Amino acid sequence: MTDLLALAFSSFVIIMPAFIANSVPVLARGRHPMDLGKKMGDGRRVLGDGKTFEGFLAGLFMGTLAGALFGYPIHSFLLALGALTGDILGAFIKRRIGIERGHPAPILDQLDFVAGALLFLYPVYPVSLDQVVFIVAVTPPIHLLTNYIAYRLGLKKYPW
Ligand code: CTP
Ligand code: MG
Repeated sequence: MTDLLALAFSSFVIIMPAFIANSVPVLARGRHPMDLGKKMGDGRRVLGDGKTFEGFLAGLFMGTLAGALFGYPIHSFLLALGALTGDILGAFIKRRIGIERGHPAPILDQLDFVAGALLFLYPVYPVSLDQVVFIVAVTPPIHLLTNYIAYRLGLKKYPW
């Protein structure tokens, strides 16, 4: 039991800046899309209006700040940058397979940012396999719950 608690605590500390980097953009109400409104050869937007410069910068700043307050500014910067990059890659993949901005892509929506965060962190801090498994297991339900709350608060158009 104490082992599980220690695993939960260490995993939470690791992934917290990524969670913050991924949730803050929705509050930023950005208006400047990172793809500059451009479309690809398939006729769809490169990323869509859901990825904005304002959201990216707000997420990067707040995610980094959160980890900095707990004493790991470099790690949290990498986690936040990785989370935002993973989310952008997720949006790019969604557009290429024809899923509109804001429409659901199960698993991809819940884990793109976690995968990005852990990959960016890995070179300087190799997260253990049990921590990765724990994070991947608890993130989807937490992500679904926080998105549902954001939807009920009128921050998001869809509850996922
Ligand atoms: N957001 C932003 N800039 C980012 C990431 C997110 O402005 N770099 C904001 C957008 O308002 C976005 C919201 O945060 O709608 C929630 O993010 P997410 O759920 O990832 O975007 P979706 O609207 O679902 O769009 P997509 O289908 O492209 O993932
Ligand atoms: Mg997303």
